[in-house]
Amino acid sequence: MLLNILTYAHTLLKESLEEGDVAIDATCGNGNDTLFLSRTVGTAGKVYGFDIQAQAIQKTKEKLLENDCHNVSLILDSHEKIHSYMEETILGGAIFNLGYLPQSDKSIITKPHSTLAAIRIILEKLKTNGRLILVIYYGHPGGEAEKEAILSYTSELDQKEYQVLRYQFINQQNQAPFLIAIEKKKRS
Ligand SMILES: C[S@@+](CC[C@H](N)C(=O)[O-])C[C@H]1O[C@@H](n2cnc3c(N)ncnc32)[C@H](O)[C@@H]1O
Repeated sequence: MLLNILTYAHTLLKESLEEGDVAIDATCGNGNDTLFLSRTVGTAGKVYGFDIQAQAIQKTKEKLLENDCHNVSLILDSHEKIHSYMEETILGGAIFNLGYLPQSDKSIITKPHSTLAAIRIILEKLKTNGRLILVIYYGHPGGEAEKEAILSYTSELDQKEYQVLRYQFINQQNQAPFLIAIEKKKRS
């Protein structure tokens, strides 16, 4: 069976992350991706988790404690402020789950300007063969503009430096989410 978007996102990260790596969850939400990253990089690794909503940071904190994960710095701030919090220069991988927090205020959404600013910073720091995963939900007001901004930016990335993949089920109804994966290539 073909992997669903979220499972494929984790599969792509698992293939490229190593124990001891530094990783970023740029949109913690309920903490599912943060927990996944924390387990994947292990106790020798480090995860930075960002969200602009206190309830998301709290939920993520609880999930990590329940699972005995202590290698995460949770940051109540916007993801384009990475430089203010992350000391390490090399990043193993990162994920964004765009849109709004389910069962929450649907007007608090990720926005093109800050999402693109964070993507640029992450790509600079990404290790060779490291991956940045974007899970793009776009069925809500504001979602289409963010989707277009991301597609426009990522499709113009220099193919000598990055491979960019789009993974999408094209016969699903209701603007189902799709995935963009960016992998940094070895400099030749
Ligand atoms: C789709 S949810 C994330 C779901 C999450 N990955 C999970 O596993 O539950 C999107 C999250 O992005 C957060 N968000 C919106 N703008 C943000 C920003 N500029 N920086 C960081 N987080 C942001 C929202 O508060 C929301 O919690």
